[in-house]
Amino acid sequence: MIPSVLPTYNRAPLAFVRGEGSWLVAEDGRRYLDLGSGIAVNALGHAHPALVATITEQAQRLWHVSNVYTIPEQERLAQLLTDRTFADTVFFTNSGTETAELAIKMARKFHHDAGQPERIEIIAFEGAFHGRSTGAIAAAGSEKMVKGFGPLMPGFVHLKWPTSDADHAAIRAAITDRTCAVIIEPIQGEGGIRPVPDQCLKGLRDLCDATGTLLIFDEVQCGMGRTGRLFAHEWAGVTPDIMMVAKGIGGGFPLGAVLATERAASGMTAGTHGSTYGGNPLGCAVGAKVVELISDPAFLAEVARKGALLRQGLESLVARHPQVFEAVRGEGLMLGLKCRPAPADVVKAGYAAGILTVAAADNVLRLLPALNIPDTDIAEALVRLDQAATTLEHAA
Ligand SMILES: Cc1ncc(COP(=O)(O)O)c(C=O)c1O
Repeated sequence: MIPSVLPTYNRAPLAFVRGEGSWLVAEDGRRYLDLGSGIAVNALGHAHPALVATITEQAQRLWHVSNVYTIPEQERLAQLLTDRTFADTVFFTNSGTETAELAIKMARKFHHDAGQPERIEIIAFEGAFHGRSTGAIAAAGSEKMVKGFGPLMPGFVHLKWPTSDADHAAIRAAITDRTCAVIIEPIQGEGGIRPVPDQCLKGLRDLCDATGTLLIFDEVQCGMGRTGRLFAHEWAGVTPDIMMVAKGIGGGFPLGAVLATERAASGMTAGTHGSTYGGNPLGCAVGAKVVELISDPAFLAEVARKGALLRQGLESLVARHPQVFEAVRGEGLMLGLKCRPAPADVVKAGYAAGILTVAAADNVLRLLPALNIPDTDIAEALVRLDQAATTLEHAA
């Protein structure tokens, strides 16, 4: 019999009742060190006092009105984001998937209004993940995501993940007079913590500039401080025309945002897009507090330092357990351990050791701790991962 919850997830038999910082407490009272953060969502850990205070204060005042009215909390969050990024304007959503939908619409509308309606093709990359809507699965294009879901939204071209000059030559060759945009995650998350080399991001920016193609960065997973910069593309010193943000920006409240330059957003006039919930006062009050805390340069420097500390520990874990771990990759606190066994088995061994991690493609185990994880919890995480690896070695 089908469960009352649609069984689209292979769920672990773990249910949590409380969260405190980097820890989750299960129904049976057992404490788990959370290095998944709800897949890069709980950027400030669980029950952060400033976020609890903000949401409580806002909840007592006003939750929701409608985007037919002016929403001061939304304007404030938009201003915080435009002050701190390349962007001139922001649209708020409830999820990352919705940001993909708007990014696609915005890019196509830009060319339509510029008198080139034939420019509808969007170049995307193998291993990408942009969400689960019909548009977002068409953008990703992998068989796993699209199989059985009928005719896909047309207009996507899929290329190899760019790491070399040859891959850039392939992108250059793929850009035609029908090309609208290139969409890319500066660090692939679901694809297995695969960073695009800085040179490649720069090369992409140049190619887009030379051909009038819009560049869309999907920073849903790698953005909001995760790499030690507010957004991951800042490391490469280039900016996109359109950027997708979600996950960490709400700190656990469902919130997303599409950031864009005035030029790229020029087609999105009144009536071209909308959302009932997106940008409501409750979500935006929380989002503004998250952005304030995370964008502080001192906070970001700490993320980079903690990332280096965790990475160093993981490197020695790889050296101690070569049958389990092959290599470390990633940036800041968005780290991946390339595994020899199936990462799902390592995640399971982690449960037994009281640590939560997330599997990704390419045989990678993802570590996405809260950005404010204390050093003592990083040390404890390394002990628990060591335990999990030892168990797997003994079981082999
Ligand atoms: C890079 C990226 N884009 C888009 C999404 C979709 O976000 P959501 O699940 O909030 O719809 C995800 C989610 O994992 C993601 O990692």
